[in-house]
Amino acid sequence: DTHPPLPPLGAIPPDLRSLADYERRAVAHMAPPCWTYLQEGSGDDITLRENRAAFDRIGLLPRVLADLRGGSTRVTMLGQSHAAPILLAPVAYQRIAHPEGELATMRAATAMGIGMVLSTLASETLEDVAAARAAAARDLGTAPAPLWFQLYAQETREQTLALVRRAEAAGHEAIMLTVDASIKRASFALPPGVEAANLRGTARPAQTAQALGRILLGTPLADAAPRWDDIAWLRGETRLPLLLKGIMTPQDAREAVRHGVDGIVMSNHGGRVLDGMPSPLTMLPAIAEAVAGEATLLLDSGVRRGTDVVKALALGASAVLVGRPQVHGLAVAGMAGVAHALLILRTELEHAMAQLGCATPGEIGPEHLFVRA
Ligand code: FNR
Repeated sequence: DTHPPLPPLGAIPPDLRSLADYERRAVAHMAPPCWTYLQEGSGDDITLRENRAAFDRIGLLPRVLADLRGGSTRVTMLGQSHAAPILLAPVAYQRIAHPEGELATMRAATAMGIGMVLSTLASETLEDVAAARAAAARDLGTAPAPLWFQLYAQETREQTLALVRRAEAAGHEAIMLTVDASIKRASFALPPGVEAANLRGTARPAQTAQALGRILLGTPLADAAPRWDDIAWLRGETRLPLLLKGIMTPQDAREAVRHGVDGIVMSNHGGRVLDGMPSPLTMLPAIAEAVAGEATLLLDSGVRRGTDVVKALALGASAVLVGRPQVHGLAVAGMAGVAHALLILRTELEHAMAQLGCATPGEIGPEHLFVRA
């Protein structure tokens, strides 16, 4: 496994060498309102900018002449094997970028052995995405990549549980409940043919406080927003690993552990929620200390380079997730674009590990970091 096979890349333009190249290219492949929805932050974009700045403030210290024989980026998380400590973050409505939407993203993830987290608000159903994974694994002769379901609490527990049962039945291997609220700056009208496929037939689909981010105090939407007792309830309802996404403080991380979650995803939702939040990277040392190994710690928001992955792992994360870059790849070249973007990121990670003298992700530690004065 030290040299995983190359995904079928088709005709990728040769000038695409980084995730930033994909971002620059993608704008020409998407309708302007969709591009704005994908890229936007919230408020004055302070958090959106900080997500990059926090990674850039940390330096790396190389080690030479280390024994790298038999090394690999592969990791085991929640009992599953991942080709790298990288996952595709849940990103809604991927058909805005490409007609094959999440089906293409799933094929790319399978080709790369990279786990995918499917959004409640996906434009393809969770069953169709699971079937696409099985078909792609068959066609490519690979193992199916991990597939996790991102859950938004619905108006009633019955509706929420129905989604969990469907994810279980379709073979999704973990539930990631998102507990922050995305606030859309502009009201975004979905283009024709794009809908929340998982919520088809639901009364008032996606009209949940979490999905719309309109938690106005004293309104029915605030009444429907999930609370800690809902976490205790959900924990008791499923045997799948349960992760909470959108945790940003040591206090909430402890509370999550106390409620028996298996994993915590530190995230500021890519700068799309409360403006002024720090980068999860900045909070990582304090949260890693609070969690003390009692839950798997993941992180997203601003990851764009293999060196970013290294920095997150050095500070205590088990893996990172990437949000917008998967959609940039999808918009530029469909399945091949997503696979190529993932290949770039994993290759950058391999190079960074080699320069740090780390044969495995587990060898990356704080001793490899240099914090500028
Ligand atoms: C998101 N994100 C998100 N998160 C989630 O839990 N459910 C969802 O449906 C969505 N949808 C979504 C749509 C779009 C267009 C974006 C940009 C983001 C948040 C996502 O999972 C992740 O936290 C961020 O995207 C990570 O930041 P980067 O990698 O985009 O900087």
